[in-house]
Amino acid sequence: MKKLIVGNWKMNPGTLAEAKKAFEKIRSGAVRLRGVETVICPPAVYLAAFSAPKGMLGAQDVFYEVEGAHTGELSAPQLKSAGVKYVIVGHSERRALGESDEVVNKKVRAALAASLIPILCVGERVRDPEHRYLHDVREQLRAGVRGVLRASLPKVVVAYEPVWAIGKGAKALDASEALHMNLYIKKALADIGGDMAGKTRILYGGSVDAANAVSFLTEGKMDGLLVGRESLTPAKFLALISHADEI
Ligand code: PGA
Repeated sequence: MKKLIVGNWKMNPGTLAEAKKAFEKIRSGAVRLRGVETVICPPAVYLAAFSAPKGMLGAQDVFYEVEGAHTGELSAPQLKSAGVKYVIVGHSERRALGESDEVVNKKVRAALAASLIPILCVGERVRDPEHRYLHDVREQLRAGVRGVLRASLPKVVVAYEPVWAIGKGAKALDASEALHMNLYIKKALADIGGDMAGKTRILYGGSVDAANAVSFLTEGKMDGLLVGRESLTPAKFLALISHADEI
């Protein structure tokens, strides 16, 4: 199975011209790699302007209704028609703005209904010594896939992103700890969805760079990575995906 490496550009870069230039550089390098599936999630306003190979575009969010009076929102079918394959759902930066588990779940189901692949983000804000955070991650998973048919669970991608490991000044999780969380999430998914859940891909995200990426994929046995800052600089992101391709 190819490693799934997703670049989340968040609210960057500032202009369409910069976005097109960066995307083109990444695209031309990424298409040569056989062992990696590369996805870029730019700000939605840039999506339609990219000439992307099938499957290389992702969105950073989706609304759960299909159409109607929902000012400012984008539906799953709209994203699909703009060439999107994956959509990030429940990123911690959106949860911090008030997005609840219930809303995240509606978005996961809306994505699946439109044949988009949801990347369901879960992760604790802090690690407490009593390990209550494990329970919180399990609950985010359970709530996130509530109502999803067992047969559809392999279509969901889970991104484990400890919130404390995300962003400037943060430190990535240790790869050995990533393995622990990978196994914990697999077990939690199996409890929820039985055998089918074994096919759900699990990504790690939080301060991933070209130097540590391989350790999450090998030692951490992750199926892929969700990359923020490092996906904005084509040279750095290309180094990262090339390292992953060599595994
Ligand atoms: P980061 O962001 O790689 O910049 O830490 C990761 C994310 O928010 O998905």
